[in-house]
Amino acid sequence: MRRLIEKAYIRYFLRSKLSVRLGRYFYRNNGGLLPNLIGKFVLLRDQFICRRESGLAFAGADTEWAKSLRENGYFIKHPDDTVDISSLECINDIWLEYLKDRDVPVDGRLQLTSASNDEKIEQLLPHLEKVLSGGTVPTLEAFYQCKTKVLNFHIYRIFNPQEIGIPSENAYGSTSNWHTDGSTTESLKIFFMLSDITPNDGPMQILNREESRGLFGSKLFGSRVGAQALDEHISRFNKPLSLTGKKGTMFVALTNECLHRASLPDPGRVRDLLTLQITCTSRKVSLMNQLRLAKFKEVFIFKRLLSL
Ligand SMILES: [Fe+2]
Repeated sequence: MRRLIEKAYIRYFLRSKLSVRLGRYFYRNNGGLLPNLIGKFVLLRDQFICRRESGLAFAGADTEWAKSLRENGYFIKHPDDTVDISSLECINDIWLEYLKDRDVPVDGRLQLTSASNDEKIEQLLPHLEKVLSGGTVPTLEAFYQCKTKVLNFHIYRIFNPQEIGIPSENAYGSTSNWHTDGSTTESLKIFFMLSDITPNDGPMQILNREESRGLFGSKLFGSRVGAQALDEHISRFNKPLSLTGKKGTMFVALTNECLHRASLPDPGRVRDLLTLQITCTSRKVSLMNQLRLAKFKEVFIFKRLLSL
């Protein structure tokens, strides 16, 4: 019952047709008006408070990937000696243990989310803390120009839709179609590859910020053009980046602004990713406490106004 109410709230309020249309018109994304307005507000608020308390503490801390995020909307970092591969391997072991004897859900995506009370979440925390404590936090702060925190995290595996008997357009909660996420727009996502991802494993694909904005401003979204027509248009006229790489590759993306999708793994192949959703804040909270409190769900959008 609660799940049904949440779905109806998202569909008819947060992402109602009017809200989505206004969001496209004013902000050139598909997230809806409220997630855009709240996203803009909380970022300005937290930047203002941090600037008042710490002066220009973030001004000199810019890095290559903070700049790339601003310009392109994404950044890919191939594994180097700053990536804690052994912690990622521990995370992968816990994930593989979780997968044992689990059936594939009807949408073809199996996931372990921090919003659940599964005992495996607690086991993941120290390893996640190590993975993030490299150079990730200062770079996030350089991008946001204020402090940051983890909103939620999850690990998920996608399967070949034909193998499990579902139409590919409905796969993974329809995230196999080009889309932008509907979270508050200040948030971004960090992805870690838990194993090598090749073109055969259904890599995520993404368009940069400018290309995505261009498409939202075009007639493609102004009429009843379906997912297939958008896919054909992007195949002909755009250059999506396919997120392939070795185990330990990190990928950061503004998923509320950049069009992206899950491509389909070949039969017999799967693709695993660890994802953390990040937002701005004005309070300093230890990484471990951030991870323990990372239970945010999209339906709690107004909580973003209260959490500093
Ligand atoms: Fe998405």
